[in-house]
Amino acid sequence: MFDAKEYVNKKLEEIRSILKNVKDEKIVAACSGGVDSTVSALLVSKALNKKIKAVYIEDGLRRIGEAEKVVETLKNLGLDPFIYDARDEVLKALKGKIDAEEKRLAFREAFYKALGNAARKFNAEYVVQGTIAADIFETVKGIKTQHNVLEQIGIKTEKYGFKVLEPIKDLYKWQVRLVARELGLPKEIVERRPFPGPGLAIRIVGEVTWEKLEILKKVTKIVEEETNDLKAFQSFAVLIDAKATGVRDWKRVYGYIVALRIVDSQDAVDAKFVEIPYERFRRIVNRVVREVPEVTRVLYDVTDKPPGTIEFE
Ligand code: XMP
Repeated sequence: MFDAKEYVNKKLEEIRSILKNVKDEKIVAACSGGVDSTVSALLVSKALNKKIKAVYIEDGLRRIGEAEKVVETLKNLGLDPFIYDARDEVLKALKGKIDAEEKRLAFREAFYKALGNAARKFNAEYVVQGTIAADIFETVKGIKTQHNVLEQIGIKTEKYGFKVLEPIKDLYKWQVRLVARELGLPKEIVERRPFPGPGLAIRIVGEVTWEKLEILKKVTKIVEEETNDLKAFQSFAVLIDAKATGVRDWKRVYGYIVALRIVDSQDAVDAKFVEIPYERFRRIVNRVVREVPEVTRVLYDVTDKPPGTIEFE
């Protein structure tokens, strides 16, 4: 049985030993606001008994209002947040990329360059990041390249100007949540649903554009509001790379197709789609087509993992 208390004690020792010759101010944490990166940053902060710099890379691919919310949370947890704006570079890197793996690689490159610039700004030698075991498993097996797995596939982060410290790379999600609770993190973070590193870039099938991002952000907000109470590991929307005819005020409209994905899982290695009541579907669809008129169709994905994966790309 996994003992979170014992794990934390051992981990604090391990972190102290890795960083024993590194000055405290040479360490920053990459924080997205998710449970993995928050736990990682807090473990290091606790091990050093110091408020550490928490860099949030604003890539333009997150939820509406995410940066502000995350900064507030990180501050409340005793970290020292800083937003690094990388929206232009990230979108530029994704321009013209259609294939899922190509997009992942382009995102990873732009993300690490931005992280390298942020680390340089603070003269940091080490960047703490929240890689977990499932991320490594998927990347090493070649299922999909998770944005935060580099060392394990032979890429040295030194080329971006820093060394990486991944304190919880031996844990699966359910264990991370137990450690988060052990560290006294609030319920919203302990139970926070995962959001992929490359964000909405992998929830827009095909090329990412500002227009599609704006649409998907609005749909994402509705879907999250309408499904947050469901027992699910993740629930989100995907913008399909195709259009469908609709009718509005007796006029033809040619709009976007959105797929809803609601899955339950323990560790993201496998997942089952959630059987939600039709009444709930109606509510979501009515809101989506009313509040986001660019969308003409809403579909539901009833594929488990395997053979599907949780995300579409
Ligand atoms: P898949 O789509 O492979 O996703 O079934 C498994 C879990 O990982 C999340 N995910 C990512 N997380 N970087 C991340 O930090 C990534 O590149 C990435 N890709 C997928 C996904 O949301 C799910 O929870």
